[in-house]
Amino acid sequence: MEEELKKGEIHLYFTFPNEINDPHLLARYHQFMNAEEAIQQQRFYFEKHRHQYLITRALVRTVLSRYCATSPEDWEFSKNEYGRPEPVLSGEFMPFRFNLSHTEALVSCGVVLETDIGVDVEDTHRITSSLEIAENFFSPQEVFDLSRLSEDAQQDRFFDYWTLKESYIKARGMGLSLPLEHFSFDLGRSKNIDISFDQHLKDDPQNWRFWLLRPGPHHKAAVSVNSKGWKKYEILVRKMVPLSEIKPFECPILRQSIV
Ligand SMILES: CC(C)(COP(=O)(O)OP(=O)(O)OC[C@H]1O[C@@H](n2cnc3c(N)ncnc32)[C@H](O)[C@@H]1OP(=O)(O)O)[C@@H](O)C(=O)NCCC(=O)NCCS
Repeated sequence: MEEELKKGEIHLYFTFPNEINDPHLLARYHQFMNAEEAIQQQRFYFEKHRHQYLITRALVRTVLSRYCATSPEDWEFSKNEYGRPEPVLSGEFMPFRFNLSHTEALVSCGVVLETDIGVDVEDTHRITSSLEIAENFFSPQEVFDLSRLSEDAQQDRFFDYWTLKESYIKARGMGLSLPLEHFSFDLGRSKNIDISFDQHLKDDPQNWRFWLLRPGPHHKAAVSVNSKGWKKYEILVRKMVPLSEIKPFECPILRQSIV
């Protein structure tokens, strides 16, 4: 099935691996993996990680095949020097880009035309937030904002900063080689999602749009999109069981860039 992806649209898919157990579906997902992925899948010690890996491969490949009439198993991936994959078909790069993220019981994949996208999902029960952790990863402004909050509000905002920061470095495609102290989000001053960069990054806040979502009671998600070439973006959120079901997902958007 081919779907149109319009300029300015972000299609964001969420899949909950624990909800997918149909052996026929799982067998079909297996057929989508290439030899390297099949080997990688077998390397996981725990069955739940092999399952999550399988669902992730199926999600990415079936999502990409919605935008280009080709079978999910046909996709190849070209990686940049920091490991960021781009979709390739018969040696050709595509006009659309994607980014995926996985955490306990959730996988997400975002797709957009011709620009950088970063997606991050986190299980908010995975770690207990603390200012000590924040001091290791966050900017002084972010730590200051957290330090003013009550314990519950701090736990909540900790994951807002974490997912936003991660989605930004993923959109930049550089992983942790992009120093986390070179940019800073500010969620404390307004309802907006503000970002500032130090001079090393040579980036401009006007070039970015951000979203914070809550795909489940234990999960937070953030999306970063480079809006330099196209200013107006909207996000369409879906829940997907690869090869079986796609439906609009009533996922609360907690905040988004105000433009
Ligand atoms: C590798 C990294 C890009 C994401 O790691 P992560 O948060 O553990 O994993 P996620 O599930 O969100 O994303 C992994 C996916 O991103 C993609 N990816 C890999 N390298 C990437 C890169 N350089 N840029 C963007 N995306 C990348 C891949 O598709 C990967 O999934 P796959 O290996 O199954 O194909 C990197 O940001 C990292 O190492 N983060 C560590 C987390 C951390 O300490 N964050 C600091 C707090 S803000």
